[in-house]
Amino acid sequence: MKSSSITIAGGGSTFTPGIVIMLLDNLDKFPIRQIKFYDNDGDRQEVIGKACEILLKERAPQIKFSYTTDPEEAFTDIDFVMAHIRVGKYAMRELDEKIPLRYKVLGQETCGPGGIAYGMRSIGGILEIIDFMEKYSPNAWMLNYSNPAAIVAEATRRLRPDSRVLNICDMPVGIEELMARIAGLNSRKEMDVRYYGLNHFGWWNSIRDKQGNDLMPKIKEHVAKYGYTFDMGHHQHVDASWNDTFHKAKDVFALDPDTLPNTYLKYYLFQDYVVEHSDIEFSRANEVMEGREKTVFKAAQDIIDKGTAKDCNFHPDEHASYIVDLARAIAFNTKERMLLIVENEGAIENFDSTGMVEIPCLVGSEGYEKLSMGKIPQFQKGLMEQQVSVEKLVVDAWITGSYQKLWQAMTLSKTVPSASIAKKILDDLIEANKEYWPELN
Ligand code: NAD
Ligand code: G6P
Ligand code: MN
Repeated sequence: MKSSSITIAGGGSTFTPGIVIMLLDNLDKFPIRQIKFYDNDGDRQEVIGKACEILLKERAPQIKFSYTTDPEEAFTDIDFVMAHIRVGKYAMRELDEKIPLRYKVLGQETCGPGGIAYGMRSIGGILEIIDFMEKYSPNAWMLNYSNPAAIVAEATRRLRPDSRVLNICDMPVGIEELMARIAGLNSRKEMDVRYYGLNHFGWWNSIRDKQGNDLMPKIKEHVAKYGYTFDMGHHQHVDASWNDTFHKAKDVFALDPDTLPNTYLKYYLFQDYVVEHSDIEFSRANEVMEGREKTVFKAAQDIIDKGTAKDCNFHPDEHASYIVDLARAIAFNTKERMLLIVENEGAIENFDSTGMVEIPCLVGSEGYEKLSMGKIPQFQKGLMEQQVSVEKLVVDAWITGSYQKLWQAMTLSKTVPSASIAKKILDDLIEANKEYWPELN
């Protein structure tokens, strides 16, 4: 079987160790000959890099491993880039979340003004990685799950239309795992779904088992009472704030009982509730810095100190196996059905043909084929037209350096009540993001 060479971009990410162990757990399905880490923060990456070096030497000595901040070294001789960078790191995520809250507007990683700010930072970082990849390994594929995926995907559509980039998100995967358990199945892979929307902004309108039986009624009955709350034991999103998000899906579902919603819709449909339940002193970024970031970096330091990864506190990120499915689909032409963020071009018949939509695709060695989702209802269409316009205006603003476009984007976001509040938030965000955004005029 063909053996792949991979670069993980954002090597210093809190998700890197979990992904590495997950890759090792899947070597029979997706053989790997080389793993490299790339990051633009050498000190941060070094801790994760050193620990993974020890772990790989013990568990898979046949895999060549290195970590570097040098683009040529990182992107030469590779088949895949798995990209999970966070431009501005958690310090900037914290500001994205807290600045809007000053004006009683929700502060969220990828939604509303915070997501717009993050998008303005991410575009340049992602384009740079695509360019490195194409320069040093022109046949490689980039599997991108850096956020905000919707804005990043629109930017790549506009600015790198011919690049081999696949944008993907794990939220539907995570929700489908819960749905499968609710329906009494062992895995989401026992289901076929139809789903449409934008990234972090979509709906399921069909979920069937492999015999064709409709699972929607059973799942809906559960969601109407408990949202997606379902005890699966060990699960990625275990913090209280995530439990609340899974539970709140009950109210999002009530608004349109014909479909099952993505959890992220709560930020657009219940923004007042979200603001009331936010703490400007301690946002999700603080929760992650106190939790996941500390735990992962301490586990890495322990490995380095002990010189062994035996009994270490790194855990496989099992649900990230969708990334292996994606790489495998390209490497071995599996034609696996997966949700990707792709240009609409008629797949959703009554929606903007240039919008980047999240829909099922069949993935093979030539890339993806989109499945047609037909016409969507007025409610979803209305919400999506507004949100896709926000995403497009952000990319316009990034390309042209237009303050006006970004003010329009901010104003159009369903999370922002007026143009005057949009302007205040924007002005504060410009100040905070001086180092990262193009200059706006
Ligand atoms: P993190 O801050 O721990 O890691 C990000 C790393 O990227 C850091 O080490 C940072 O130095 C590096 N980085 C920043 N800018 C860079 C650049 N221009 N070039 C190279 N490296 C750069 O963040 P995290 O919480 O582990 O998340 C990483 C990313 O993955 C985020 O974008 C997050 O939103 C995303 N994510 C996406 C999904 C999804 O479903 N799409 C799921 C989980 C996480
Ligand atoms: C989900 C989403 C990601 C997002 C993450 C945030 O997995 O699909 O796009 O980045 O949640 O999780 P966090 O634990 O960092 O708040
Ligand atoms: Mn996501």
